[in-house]
Amino acid sequence: MKIRAVYPGTFDPVTNGHIDLIQRSAALFDRVIVAVLMNTEKSPLFTVAERVEMLEEVVEGLKNVSVTTFQGLLVDFADQSKATVIVRGIRAVSDYEYELQMALMNRRLSPHVETVFLMPAETYSYLSSRLVKEISQLGGSVRGLVPSAVEERLRFKQQHMVSS
Ligand code: PNS
Repeated sequence: MKIRAVYPGTFDPVTNGHIDLIQRSAALFDRVIVAVLMNTEKSPLFTVAERVEMLEEVVEGLKNVSVTTFQGLLVDFADQSKATVIVRGIRAVSDYEYELQMALMNRRLSPHVETVFLMPAETYSYLSSRLVKEISQLGGSVRGLVPSAVEERLRFKQQHMVSS
């Protein structure tokens, strides 16, 4: 049986921690769909199109990984995509409570979709898109935390935002 997994998130922007999880998922499942939430509530730094573009660049070499967007319930998207697994990353105990709540709620909504938690390499256990954005906007270096193309885009945003 071929297993298709969805790796959902905001990815604002994709970090090396996300990439680590995408690679691990690609090795575990037959097909991995990286799904960017089209979220209107949060005010993201990058547009959905920019986030998809950055993700597409990083998954280029991974044959069984694709990138797309979704809106509405994640479990509905999983069903539409014929995915039976939702992948989520857990970096530290602090992630666990929220992730458990979401996983159990998703199970209630759709019992045939299983959430699988993966741990990124410990180097990335303190890494988050939020901190990456904050450091970059305050002029700090995010080298080694995000792909170089993302680093460049962050620098461009930072310069653009400072000068505008
Ligand atoms: O990267 P994030 O912001 O932690 O990802 C959160 C995400 C996109 C996985 C979550 O917000 C989500 O699944 N939203 C879709 C709406 C939904 O299904 N809500 C019910 C969750 S129990």
